[in-house]
Amino acid sequence: MGRRGLSRSIKRIPPSPQALARYLQLWRYEEAKADPALDVPRLDPAALFDGRQAYELEVGCGTGEVLCGLAAERPENGFVGVDPSTKSLFHAVRLAESMDLRNIRFLRAPVDALYPHLLDETVAAVYVHFPDPFVRARGQHKVLNPTFLARMHAAMRAGGLLSIVSDKPELFDEVLELVEGTPGWEKAHAERFLMGFEPPIKSRYQRKWERFELPALRLEVRKRPLARTACA
Ligand SMILES: C[S@@+](CC[C@H](N)C(=O)[O-])C[C@H]1O[C@@H](n2cnc3c(N)ncnc32)[C@H](O)[C@@H]1O
Repeated sequence: MGRRGLSRSIKRIPPSPQALARYLQLWRYEEAKADPALDVPRLDPAALFDGRQAYELEVGCGTGEVLCGLAAERPENGFVGVDPSTKSLFHAVRLAESMDLRNIRFLRAPVDALYPHLLDETVAAVYVHFPDPFVRARGQHKVLNPTFLARMHAAMRAGGLLSIVSDKPELFDEVLELVEGTPGWEKAHAERFLMGFEPPIKSRYQRKWERFELPALRLEVRKRPLARTACA
């Protein structure tokens, strides 16, 4: 089964209205891209998570297993998952409810719709795991591109972790070169990249792809401050 087949195999099972109200923010980020007059809240961790100063963000969280696993492991932190797929987020919401998580929210939007609404230095970690390889615009990957790195750099706290995992070697090579050539990030490991990925709960994508014995290629980098340009 190809990746598109995996996505089609996700059934649309709406959660209860209570679970939706508790976990899914219906803020209209995507519509606000076309209509800046629309009033959508900024992503303020203090408002989302009872005064917390930062949150961890999964971009393309899909059906939410990895983020729910992390949220259960670290109840003191806040977690936000963003994905444009409603049916995937329905599964994520149902899982969060079944685990009775109190520190997780999901947003339905493509990640670039969030950029104007992110607050500086409020994100402790960003996860991009198994991004769709065919999602491209004007020759650039729609998620992992120079604008994404710049926006995440501004939104992240110093020392914050950016974790990227892919089973697609061509996409991974492209992203590795992009990150290595972008100032403001340093590798969190001595190796050029890592092999394998063992989150607390594996996603349905990872479990299916592992049946084909495809390796997961992984890159972890940390934000470091950009050098200031000296004034003449
Ligand atoms: C192959 S799935 C991986 C899901 C999850 N990260 C995992 O490990 O199972 C890729 C996900 O990226 C989402 N996606 C596609 N374009 C996106 C975008 N522009 N912004 C955020 N997520 C996106 C898709 O809806 C899909 O859920």
